[in-house]
Amino acid sequence: MTDPLDRARFHARQWLDALSTCPAGAQASAAELRAAFEAPLPETGRDAAAIIDDLAAKATPGLNANASGRFFAWVMAGSLPSATAADWLVSAWDQNVGLFSVAPAAAMIEEVTGEWLKDLFDLPREASFAFTTGCQMAHVTALAAARHRVLANAGWNAEEDGLFGAPAIRVLTSRNRHGSIDSAARYLGIGQSNIVDVDTGPMGDMLLDDLERKLSHYDGPIILCLNAADLNVGTFDDFAKLIPVAQAAGAWVHVDGAFGLFARVSERLRPLTEGIDLADSWATDGHKWLNVPYDCGIAFVRDAEAHRAAMALGAAYLSPSREARDPNDWNLELSRRARAIPVYAALQELGRQGVADMIDRCCDHCRALVSGIGALPGARPLNDPVLNQGLVRFERDAASKEENDAFTDEVIARVNASGEAFFSPTIWNGQRAMRISVVSWRTNEEDVARTIAAVKQALSDADA
Ligand SMILES: Cc1ncc(COP(=O)(O)O)c(C=O)c1O
Repeated sequence: MTDPLDRARFHARQWLDALSTCPAGAQASAAELRAAFEAPLPETGRDAAAIIDDLAAKATPGLNANASGRFFAWVMAGSLPSATAADWLVSAWDQNVGLFSVAPAAAMIEEVTGEWLKDLFDLPREASFAFTTGCQMAHVTALAAARHRVLANAGWNAEEDGLFGAPAIRVLTSRNRHGSIDSAARYLGIGQSNIVDVDTGPMGDMLLDDLERKLSHYDGPIILCLNAADLNVGTFDDFAKLIPVAQAAGAWVHVDGAFGLFARVSERLRPLTEGIDLADSWATDGHKWLNVPYDCGIAFVRDAEAHRAAMALGAAYLSPSREARDPNDWNLELSRRARAIPVYAALQELGRQGVADMIDRCCDHCRALVSGIGALPGARPLNDPVLNQGLVRFERDAASKEENDAFTDEVIARVNASGEAFFSPTIWNGQRAMRISVVSWRTNEEDVARTIAAVKQALSDADA
């Protein structure tokens, strides 16, 4: 009988080997995928290896090649070889990393990897951490700790008494924030109407004078959320200026560093993060710029006591460990995948220098893409990338703004349909733009040249 793991290895190898030649975006439509997968629930079982062959055959046309070097949509990378392989072991070992006693080796790897990450990002070594499904849940985790602390400071115990009758918490945050901050505030019972927009400058960075105005306008518990960096143009808030002002007003400061926290690892980019270590909590992702498989986010909290108070779970049948860290003290989930293991592997594969080199390389490729595409007739760059995020808009002479918005969408669609590269759109300062997000360890000069050529072709086809 064929081993399904052997078939999985075969199909995985085929997929990974084809990344430099296959279309960058999925080719199958929703109707085609539904037709491929839809079937009555099987009444009886079948051969496991045949299931894997069938899955690979049907899914491949519907896979986005985000692991390729020519995929620049959203903020999505692939996975380093050791991280992919380690992730297979995670599935084979199938450890439930809630408590050290339940999954000793996996809990220890998580303990060590969390310490490595604080070192990598140069965050306060006393900070606690949690491995989450992504940055969204890292926000929820860190902001639950923030909620505990700011309400405790106001004489309220959120975990004991809930939020009915509690002092209102205000979340002050950049107009240019990621929507996951809003979701986190909603999940935590803070509510959308208690999110206060703070004005931003032309590149989306928070304005100090508006922050001061808003801080003085509200008394009561305040959480400030800052950006490192935004996903359109990679702008960082000015942490060194903003954080001390907010903390002097009693606010807890949280940083969304989904990918931007990695700038701290690069000598060249580190100045963008100056003062970030003054914050009270940070959220980032492993599955973006560290190139580990989905899903993996990480929260760090300076006030470990607040973090533990917000998360710890006690149950008579779960005995805490006295000799090692129990992840359940820091996470929402009770049963958990050992998602720190691919991070442990990736950090060894690259080392500190390798992470820095990968970050610098992505930023260089982003600059080359923005300037190469931006120099094509009909293209206009909207930023001079400071990080790995760029924007380009496509315009025809004498066309209206709306016509050029539509033209930009048309060029993106043509490039995506060519399979040569894959982009996603955005709106920046009211205008449609093509986002160029470079996060993959695989992207190289050849991918950059090929992508510029594909956009050139799309522009000429659009005008043919
Ligand atoms: C700046 C920023 N914050 C938060 C998130 C949410 O991250 P995740 O999808 O890992 O939950 C993203 C996702 O793209 C992001 O770009």
